[in-house]
Amino acid sequence: MKIINGSALAKKIKSILAIDIAFCVEKYNRAPKLELVLVGDDPHSATHVGNKKKAANAIGMECDIHSLPCHTSQTELLELIDQLNKDASVDAILVQLPLPKHIDTNTIINAIDYRKDVDGLHPMNVGLLCTSSDDAIIPCTPRGILSLLQEEQIEISGKHCVVIGRSNLVGNPTARLMLKNNASVTICHSKTRDLPYLTRQAEILIVAIGCPNLIHADMLKEGAVVIDVGINSIDGKLVGDVYNSIDVPSIEKIASAITPVPGGVGPMTIASLLQNTFDIYKRNVVK
Ligand SMILES: NC(=O)c1ccc[n+]([C@@H]2O[C@H](COP(=O)([O-])OP(=O)(O)OC[C@H]3O[C@@H](n4cnc5c(N)ncnc54)[C@H](OP(=O)(O)O)[C@@H]3O)[C@@H](O)[C@H]2O)c1
Repeated sequence: MKIINGSALAKKIKSILAIDIAFCVEKYNRAPKLELVLVGDDPHSATHVGNKKKAANAIGMECDIHSLPCHTSQTELLELIDQLNKDASVDAILVQLPLPKHIDTNTIINAIDYRKDVDGLHPMNVGLLCTSSDDAIIPCTPRGILSLLQEEQIEISGKHCVVIGRSNLVGNPTARLMLKNNASVTICHSKTRDLPYLTRQAEILIVAIGCPNLIHADMLKEGAVVIDVGINSIDGKLVGDVYNSIDVPSIEKIASAITPVPGGVGPMTIASLLQNTFDIYKRNVVK
């Protein structure tokens, strides 16, 4: 069974982007600019935002963090988004989720100019992806998954792809993206009856649940490619929904490839964020 190396591909994507950005800065006289908005003091969110800024700056992008206190009102946050929307020097806006409970996430996502919506969560981008438009900004994790499959030269067209999870962030857009790439797609979720019956048909199985040890070897088709999106912590150790689960020795005998956790889909999510930012920048500078 092949272990698909997401860290290596993410590194490659970032090196290519760094070269492209240096060339564009010379040509268009400005760097891509990504604005990150963090509300509250959740340490995980602060780490994620810090890592995104570090990665953006490392390849020559401009990147600011707007760090707002927990008690920031929805109106104050909307004012900041309006300001960033109107600022022509800003290419991309990302509001780190989850937001504090008193703020309505959909209201905030809908307020971002969809052309700057680097996370691809605005209904306009969701709609563009659903209509298989090339203009859609694709959410970062699904884009990373597609890049991994393409890099590994895993054929998607005509394959049966089963996606477990239907969140707006991962499962749903991933399923749409696989459909756009001509897979036949089945989406499973917590109310799905007879999950093993469906997973056993998957030539590509994408697992985005957040629940380790649910998938066992007898749920896989011989030769299946398993994309493990899940991130879970067990006794302080990072594990996926499939990778490092108790059944991995048996899974290894059946699956043809798997993404590890850590080092699989995770690093690709940040690399895709940078690709999305650069794509939006190019739309803005190349007239
Ligand atoms: N690697 C990365 O970069 C990255 C990025 C984002 C997320 N993640 C990880 O990916 C996982 C999923 O993230 P998410 O944001 O999509 O989570 P989420 O919003 O909690 O969605 C989880 C999905 O899994 C489904 N589900 C839960 N239990 C199930 C079960 N027993 N059988 C079948 N389906 C089940 C849920 O179904 P219902 O809709 O019916 O509730 C839901 O659609 C998490 O571990 C998260 O940390 C990783």
